[in-house]
Amino acid sequence: MTVLVFDDAGAASRAAADKIQAVVKEAVGQRGRAVLGLATGATPEKVYGYLVRLHTLGELSFHDVITYNLDEYYPIQPLDPKSYRSYMYRHLFSKVDLQPQRTHLLDGTVPEPFVDEHCAEYERWIAEDGGLDLQLLGIGRNGHIGFNEPSDRSVEEALALRTRIMELHPVTRADAAREFGSVEGVIPRALTMGIATILGAREILLLATGAHKAEAVKLGLTGPVTAKLPASLLQSVAPRVTWMLDQAAASDLDRTADTP
Ligand code: PGA
Repeated sequence: MTVLVFDDAGAASRAAADKIQAVVKEAVGQRGRAVLGLATGATPEKVYGYLVRLHTLGELSFHDVITYNLDEYYPIQPLDPKSYRSYMYRHLFSKVDLQPQRTHLLDGTVPEPFVDEHCAEYERWIAEDGGLDLQLLGIGRNGHIGFNEPSDRSVEEALALRTRIMELHPVTRADAAREFGSVEGVIPRALTMGIATILGAREILLLATGAHKAEAVKLGLTGPVTAKLPASLLQSVAPRVTWMLDQAAASDLDRTADTP
């Protein structure tokens, strides 16, 4: 896997935005459209800020971009400010020329008996759009990617996981308490792309910033491949994965990483 370490979160986010811009231009040039897998949370906010800036400067158009987000709380209404649909609208969709019908998120309003079918349908849409050109990822303190939480599954089973409904891990709930006001207030379930869905992307860009991510980053990059630390499963598609880190998130790594 390629590991790039930047001075601070701003520089890492800027590099992630530049990478997304390059992927969009190349895919649109080659196939007439680009398919991006997007992430939410605190980490990518700056990335979206830079993408909006590139758009405002006339250097990046989203006209031919199709987006699929990683995950969404369940159940949740799209207009709830804590929904990831709202997050994406606030940080990106309302500020660039993305066509609304080309922005996809898992639907937190699907009645429970139809959740499995909705998740299967999401997989079909991605496949019909030609697969993801690039998947942007964050990493949880417990090593989750999307809401693929640590588990006791075998590596083989974990690598086969598709889009589905999940219970949030206690660490994830604790971290989400920021937005929900308390741990008890956190919506305890979510819909998430699976590990197999994520690993199917032609390129994967994991962005991690802050010292609180250092341990998960170290384990994901250099620890054993295990479903107990879902980000470690990225090692199975290593040539397609780039980690962009700030100094703090890289602080547990030895200094063999590439510094741009
Ligand atoms: P964060 O979440 O960006 O809010 O730290 C990352 C993640 O849980 O994937």
